[in-house]
Amino acid sequence: MAQTWTPDSWRAKPIRQVPTYPDADKVKQVEKTLSTYPPLVFAGEARRLKAELANVAMGKGFLLQGGDCAESFAEFNPNNIRDTFRVLLQMAVVLTFGASCPIVKVGRMAGQFAKPRSSDMETKDGISLPSYRGDAVNGMEFTEEARIPDPERLIQMYNQAASTLNLIRALAQGGYANLNKVHRWNLGFVNGTEEGNRYQDLSNRISDALAFMDACGINGDTTASLRETEFYTSHEALLLNYEQAMTRVDSTQDNEEWYDTSAHLVWIGERTRLLDEAHIEYMRGIANPIGCKVGPTMTPDELITLIDTLNPNNEAGKLTLITRMGADNIEKGLQPLLERVKAEGRHIVWSCDPMHGNTVTAEGGYKTRHFDAVLGEVRGFFAAHKAAGTHAGGVHFEMTGQDVTECVGGTYEVKEGELGDRYHTHCDPRLNANQALEMAFLLADALKAERDI
Ligand code: PEP
Ligand code: CO
Repeated sequence: MAQTWTPDSWRAKPIRQVPTYPDADKVKQVEKTLSTYPPLVFAGEARRLKAELANVAMGKGFLLQGGDCAESFAEFNPNNIRDTFRVLLQMAVVLTFGASCPIVKVGRMAGQFAKPRSSDMETKDGISLPSYRGDAVNGMEFTEEARIPDPERLIQMYNQAASTLNLIRALAQGGYANLNKVHRWNLGFVNGTEEGNRYQDLSNRISDALAFMDACGINGDTTASLRETEFYTSHEALLLNYEQAMTRVDSTQDNEEWYDTSAHLVWIGERTRLLDEAHIEYMRGIANPIGCKVGPTMTPDELITLIDTLNPNNEAGKLTLITRMGADNIEKGLQPLLERVKAEGRHIVWSCDPMHGNTVTAEGGYKTRHFDAVLGEVRGFFAAHKAAGTHAGGVHFEMTGQDVTECVGGTYEVKEGELGDRYHTHCDPRLNANQALEMAFLLADALKAERDI
């Protein structure tokens, strides 16, 4: 591993999962343009998130990360942004109560436009075309023209991320996130139907707590932290030329620190986390908090090397490991990793992605995930942490605020035969609003159990 890091030192390393553009000059032009654009986030915000994640690493907080598998240009719409933001807030209220600790809220939003693929080509009816790699790269439509990578899409990604972030900031700070209001939305979920009733008890206890605080004069009118919220953005840092163009020195500090200003947190995917390759090289040099996916093939030795490459100073809050092993593998697969990392004293935020190890193909060819498998992985994650004596630090969901039919199951059950009704995802199946909120209610119980040990 080269000792000197620069924002472009990744270019000397082997790289995978990046598109081959037909016009290299046009790519250079776009990179140059992007590098003159304003940062999307401020370094101080990324540092604040890192400090909050340091608390999580120390067992004093919980990370809730969620949003689209792939944001899309076609579905760019204020209601979609608002609704996903809203469900994340609803989940956070329930989790805060269950965990009795701060919930760090991070959206897979405002920049999640590029997708790694398991195959370079997609074949349909005997015709093979380059795979769709996210709206940042090419078009989803199955035509030769749409699948040609176009660097101008990087500019559109930047613009859409900027507008999305602007709305998120307004919603977070402008009164929309008022705790009492968010709880009232949850009452709608719980009281609306017989199915929701099973969560009545927890919801009543939250109502009581809010009424008690209100009686003490603590409410949204008197207390800013009940009226506003901190909300951060994140995406997979797949297209390193885009990330490099957004990488800037923090001018407010004396020491020269580089921040990727495209999001507060960026992560490395399961397919690009190879030690001597470009993605790790880029990520090791930025000062943002970062994530890395950890799949079922990871060994304890490899993990320690990875941790020490990405976080050589063992800074708490710097590194979030997002495990995604599958419901059947998690308990056995995770525990040895937890034990080793604990024995070596590395500070890690452990987060559970219960989505990517549980994708199956349903009848009709739809990629789906079963609510019970997702829940099963979350439960296995908690069990492994309990056995290892480590803190189950967070969860990472692919979800949306819309009433889609992409994952099956849940109390408001989506059945396999209904998948075609509202299957809108550009890539992987997402939990819909009800499924995501229900997951939070179930998680709250697991968190409470962890707390009561
Ligand atoms: C993702 O988070 O959308 C993804 C592709 O995950 P992974 O890298 O874990 O497969
Ligand atoms: Co995905």
